[in-house]
Amino acid sequence: MNMLRTVVNKFIRRPLSSMAYNGKLKGKVAIVTASTDGIGFAIAERLAADGASVVVSSRKENNVTSAVEKLRSCGYSVSGVVCHVSKASDRERLIKEAQDKFGGIDVLVSNAAVNPGVGPVLESTEEVWDKIFEVNVKAAYLLSKEVLPHLRKRHGGSIVYIASIAGFDPLGLLGVYSVSKTALLGLTKAAAKDLARENIRVNCVAPGIVITKFSSALHETEEAKEALLRSIPMGRMAIPKEIAGVVSFLVSDDASYITGETIVASGGMTSRL
Ligand SMILES: NC(=O)c1ccc[n+]([C@@H]2O[C@H](COP(=O)([O-])OP(=O)(O)OC[C@H]3O[C@@H](n4cnc5c(N)ncnc54)[C@H](OP(=O)(O)O)[C@@H]3O)[C@@H](O)[C@H]2O)c1
Repeated sequence: MNMLRTVVNKFIRRPLSSMAYNGKLKGKVAIVTASTDGIGFAIAERLAADGASVVVSSRKENNVTSAVEKLRSCGYSVSGVVCHVSKASDRERLIKEAQDKFGGIDVLVSNAAVNPGVGPVLESTEEVWDKIFEVNVKAAYLLSKEVLPHLRKRHGGSIVYIASIAGFDPLGLLGVYSVSKTALLGLTKAAAKDLARENIRVNCVAPGIVITKFSSALHETEEAKEALLRSIPMGRMAIPKEIAGVVSFLVSDDASYITGETIVASGGMTSRL
């Protein structure tokens, strides 16, 4: 618990505007899905702090407005638009926003995911299966396909999918969600090979357990939390900024020879298929 407090004090309580500015993404334009809260917001914040112009997005207009306001108050180059990733017209609007406001797209971070049902994988309903695959996998695939012509116009670019440690080692009762995340590991490899000659890199980040609304059910009781912490070799959960830094690295020129890879940021949780 003390260790967690130290990490929280070091990263979370630090005001956005005091983040060290690293201009390594200067001139790049990034789209981040599901970026008004949690890991997506931290990614948008970090890419902007590192110099990118960023389009934030999520389903609810008030969330978009407040995320844009927070980031602009730090002096970052940010725009925002409502985008439910499984709606074609919303994805089109997201791409148009980047084009109209910032003149193109260099980076796509596909971060949106849902988990509408828990239980053993083969007991899930077809409805739950379809919803999870529609948002977590199909929308990631479709948005990548739609962004591709824009990356080609820039003669290169970068796509990052946010998968999960569950894609390597399914989390109990999150079977379908885990399978959807394994699919993203495959999408990363397949797309990376197809696009490598065009200087378009495709990579993936697989977070462990990160403190967000999404994961709150996993640690809402003290008992559940203790059991969870025992399963993490580092003995603590991550905070969103610890995932955002990995994404910023992957889309930067520091990762210019890395494609088709998944970086696991899980505090040591098992990461082999
Ligand atoms: N937290 C973890 O422990 C953990 C671990 C491994 C992987 N991940 C992955 O990390 C990613 C982000 O998770 P998180 O924990 O940061 O979630 P979160 O804190 O619950 O944030 C959810 C964000 O997604 C938006 N959103 C939800 N559904 C959307 C949709 N269909 N289209 C567009 N935006 C949508 C929400 O805004 P609106 O309500 O306005 O749409 C909000 O901005 C997910 O891919 C998740 O699978 C999380």
